[in-house]
Amino acid sequence: MRPVALVSGSSRGIGAATARAFGERGYHVIVNYLQNEAAALEVVSSITSAGGSAQAIQADVRDEEHVGRLVDQIAGEHRRIDVLVCNANTARPTFEPFEDVTWGAFLAKLDNELAGVFHLTQRVLSVMRAHPQHRGRIVYVSSISGDSSAGLVAHATAKSSLNRFSRHVAAFAGQFGISVNTVAPGSVETDASATVNSAEIIAYLAERSVFGRQMVPNDVAQVIASVADPSFAAVTGQIITVDAGMDVLAQQLSFVGKRKPLTAD
Ligand SMILES: NC(=O)c1ccc[n+]([C@@H]2O[C@H](COP(=O)([O-])OP(=O)(O)OC[C@H]3O[C@@H](n4cnc5c(N)ncnc54)[C@H](OP(=O)(O)O)[C@@H]3O)[C@@H](O)[C@H]2O)c1
Repeated sequence: MRPVALVSGSSRGIGAATARAFGERGYHVIVNYLQNEAAALEVVSSITSAGGSAQAIQADVRDEEHVGRLVDQIAGEHRRIDVLVCNANTARPTFEPFEDVTWGAFLAKLDNELAGVFHLTQRVLSVMRAHPQHRGRIVYVSSISGDSSAGLVAHATAKSSLNRFSRHVAAFAGQFGISVNTVAPGSVETDASATVNSAEIIAYLAERSVFGRQMVPNDVAQVIASVADPSFAAVTGQIITVDAGMDVLAQQLSFVGKRKPLTAD
């Protein structure tokens, strides 16, 4: 019997690439989506035509009842969930000066972002705990914005909260042999980033990668699938940055900028 991986928001973008990565690794993949059934079925078909196994299930992960129905269906049909990836892009970031952000919009962003991970985590943990012989892995998809990001106050606060939330879940779930980690990507070429970032911003970000390119969804998907691998059994509670070297280059540039000339007298 194949292990089961549930990837929230996997009809498009990073989630779709992650679903394919788990399909290639022999999992039965649950391709969750909000409204785009055709895209979800396309991901399922790309997995099954490569010899893998997958099914699409619609559920709005922000809605507790939807999440209950989703998890009950998987547990009823498969009796196990080995991997949960909380990836769904439930609220896109908006660039606004802080003074223009309303309290309502700020709260809505936090609510959208955190409701999905909270409900999914609680419901899936109970299924994982019922089968302690199956290794349990939870991976959250955060963002480098969780650490900083001028102009994205609501998004950055939401992702920063997710990072902290993941550490608490890791501390709780460890006693059941379940590992919990977070992957924090930089800019990735998806529908979401294309709406949020202008072509100039994308080019600017690509230049700041040591590899000189913007990341594609599979760059992040491979890390998510690797973190869920049994070989990562001793890694939990970590926030893993996947930014194609933007951070090192930024540090190097600021170091070079501040360095005194070696020949200074
Ligand atoms: N792209 C980036 O540059 C970037 C950078 C850092 C972090 N991230 C994070 O990576 C994750 C994925 O982002 P992405 O760029 O791949 O997003 P995307 O291309 O916009 O895809 C969003 C996916 O989430 C699904 N979704 C949206 N709301 C949902 C809901 N309420 N319930 C269930 N599924 C829902 C969509 O389903 P439908 O197709 O049905 O609409 C779709 O499959 C997000 O958590 C995002 O914050 C992205």
